[in-house]
Amino acid sequence: MRPLTLSPNSVNLPASSSGAHSGAPVGIFDSGLGGLSVLRAVRALLPAERLVYVADSRYAPYGQRDDDFIADRTLAIGEWLVAQGAKALVVACNTATAQSIALVRERLSIPLVGVEPGIKPAALASKTRVAGVLATQVTLRSARFQALVERHAADLRVLCQPGHGLVEAVERCDVNSPELLALLRAYVEPMLEAGADTLVLGCTHYPFLDAAIRSIVGERMALIDTSVAIARQLERVLEQHGLRADGGNAGAGPDDIRFCSTSDGAHLRELAAALLGLDAEVERVAIPSRRTRELEANAA
Ligand code: DGL
Repeated sequence: MRPLTLSPNSVNLPASSSGAHSGAPVGIFDSGLGGLSVLRAVRALLPAERLVYVADSRYAPYGQRDDDFIADRTLAIGEWLVAQGAKALVVACNTATAQSIALVRERLSIPLVGVEPGIKPAALASKTRVAGVLATQVTLRSARFQALVERHAADLRVLCQPGHGLVEAVERCDVNSPELLALLRAYVEPMLEAGADTLVLGCTHYPFLDAAIRSIVGERMALIDTSVAIARQLERVLEQHGLRADGGNAGAGPDDIRFCSTSDGAHLRELAAALLGLDAEVERVAIPSRRTRELEANAA
């Protein structure tokens, strides 16, 4: 199966307008740990690139937040990454992309890459013409998602299932507990019964549940994960803007990836070790925004 992404989101400003240069890092952001699945693919395809990863774990999951909150956080973190010198931004979160990519694209002066559920590859892969989509409620109810289905899957029966509880499980580094397996079973078994042969992992946290899902569906479903396609899209965008890091570099080592979290970062460190084999120092960062200031004022 060939994973494809559907979200080539680059701004039209030339790279020079932001002062970005090829040696600068790429910013990658998610509500939490899910974007590490994208970081893994970026690192494999573009090993010379320096990376700054931000997990907004203090405010995850976004899937239950209101639209304004998600846009507020995405913009604040994008601006923070620009201030850290990022030359491009990967919004490695389907929920944030669905909700706020247009706004962020208007406001930031660096190229952007967003992510969207792999509806197009699912439409190409499904033989039964029935596909399941697991994503957050916010993603599934977004106009972007509806448009994606209309554009690419008019002849496909698409079974949408909000993955309540799954982001929280991954944030706890739970990828195989009996409770999690029971939750996954409740989500995917009805899809199998309805004849689905393809399952779109429409949230960047879900690739970490790949083995757990596989243990339930066996070979009866193809799992669609777009992280490799997102890395390819980033490569194209960097090339278009003349921002690819010098290929002569031997490859980014652990020191060339900066891991930041708005929470204590322990789980980010644990997952980076398990997934990327990196014993990463995680910086705790404060990225205040209008909505988090309000939250904190109300809590005081
Ligand atoms: N990884 C995010 C996504 O892709 C999770 C969203 C959330 O925090 O609920 O949608």
